[in-house]
Amino acid sequence: MRGIALAALVVVTGCQPAERYGSRPVHETPANKAAEAEPSTKAESKPLDSEIQWIDIDEPPKPDATIEFVRAETKSELWNKLTKFWNEPEAKGETKETPVVRIKVPLGLSDPREYLPAGETMTRGKWQLGQRLFFDDSWLEAKVGTSCATCHQPNEGFADHKHTHGDGFNAPTLINCVFNRHQFADGRAVLLEEVVQRTLEDEKGDLGKPFNHTWSGVIERLRNKANYHEEFNRVFGKPTREEDGAEKANITQDTVGRALACYLRTILAGDSLHDRAVERARKRGTALQAEDYEAVLEDAAFVELGREKAKKPAVAAELMHGYRLFHGLEKDRPLSNCYQCHTGCTFSDNEFHNLGIGGSRPGKEGGRFAWVPIGQKNRYWIDAYKTPTLRGLRRTSPYFHNGSVDSLLEVVEFYNSGAKRNNYLDPLLRGKDGKTRLLGCSAADIDALVLFLISLNGREVDEYLKLPPKR
Ligand code: HEC
Ligand code: HEC
Repeated sequence: MRGIALAALVVVTGCQPAERYGSRPVHETPANKAAEAEPSTKAESKPLDSEIQWIDIDEPPKPDATIEFVRAETKSELWNKLTKFWNEPEAKGETKETPVVRIKVPLGLSDPREYLPAGETMTRGKWQLGQRLFFDDSWLEAKVGTSCATCHQPNEGFADHKHTHGDGFNAPTLINCVFNRHQFADGRAVLLEEVVQRTLEDEKGDLGKPFNHTWSGVIERLRNKANYHEEFNRVFGKPTREEDGAEKANITQDTVGRALACYLRTILAGDSLHDRAVERARKRGTALQAEDYEAVLEDAAFVELGREKAKKPAVAAELMHGYRLFHGLEKDRPLSNCYQCHTGCTFSDNEFHNLGIGGSRPGKEGGRFAWVPIGQKNRYWIDAYKTPTLRGLRRTSPYFHNGSVDSLLEVVEFYNSGAKRNNYLDPLLRGKDGKTRLLGCSAADIDALVLFLISLNGREVDEYLKLPPKR
């Protein structure tokens, strides 16, 4: 009998409406009185209002211009006509069509649309809100002064040059992050929407834990900023009013994540020396050759490549050698198989590999291993980290997830001496006998590989994206 009464009490408390985060007055009930009597532990475990995650709306978002990506490879005529990166819709007077902002996708990149979450529309308003949030240093932390741009600095390849950030991780570039299949070196988040908060509990946070790229209290802080309410409601729709008729702001983990992600997905850069050579070969309808590099080598490129005094044909031949080594095409150096992991338009397979950079202990395995679900654990996930992009490397030193290497020369020398031997080393870095393979590259081969990596650097991100909004 007592058991049933207890169960009934649990059911009754469980069915009460979720308590509003922070503000709603506490009703006088025996249960609440009991909770008040021992505040220290109970207050900590107070459930959070699920509206922190998502709010239903009464009024739809205001009509808005949509964002469209235009690529040279598929819409060359329109692409050639666009003179800027960001192209506002042409004013056509009264028209029923939705206005379109056109983004000129830099040469060499895939179609970003294929990487958007299903059903997600990119609009100008969402982008502007995302841009505002990215640069605003007043909401991310309780103490004003830190924004996304503090660590992802637009003039430093949207990264910084610190080795790590307290969590043992180097800040990665956000350039071309639209093509990421996972976020973070261990892939613990999937969507760009999830990088600030991933669970309801993240809002409350555990201040004692080391930095893991979630911030607590951000929804409450943003809700307390009246100057954000109108913009969120315009972009994401107006929520149902409070019972007493008061207006609510559509500021949730969902909307904050979506606005930021919209901006992040437009941080694109490409048009590298290598892209231009590939494009020339494509137009000629043949495989890439040294003459393609020679044709696109401008005088300014010699400085970036560190070959100020060299002649054009020599630099072109060296680039071609680097390209061939990278792709395992040099017959006497077949082991240099960089392309097996560094593939696709960002030179990343979006997979996780153990290169021997880590060193977790049994029972506390790190890297991808810690995040794959039960049933998918595999010894090669241990200390395996995401293959990073190889675009923009000149701007994003130091290298590797823990920032442990400072120069590209050291990175290539690291691979040449067989990465770092360990029990879980990726099979692609082993020979047929299962042992760590040495690449057997000479000093000249290593220089050519480094030169090829520099040729992937590409142009700067457009100024339009690098500046905080003018308001
Ligand atoms: C204190 C420095 C810092 C701040 C502030 C910061 N980040 Fe990061 N960011 C990092 C670090 C370090 C990583 C890598 C973490 C890891 O791999 O575990 C990272 C990773 C990321 C990634 C994943 C990229 C990838 O390729 O895996 C995204 C996206 C990102 N940050 C976006 C943001 C946004 C948006 C903000 C602002 C809301 C922000 N960051 C604020 C340091 C920071
Ligand atoms: C088995 C897959 C694999 C192969 C093969 C491979 N890489 Fe990597 N590469 C990775 C992974 C994974 C990382 C990141 C490791 C980490 O952060 O711990 C990486 C990191 C890098 C970085 C540092 C980038 C940064 O921003 O931190 C460079 C440069 C690089 N690789 C170049 C090469 C070159 C050149 C080759 C061929 C000699 C090569 N890679 C072969 C998987 C691979």
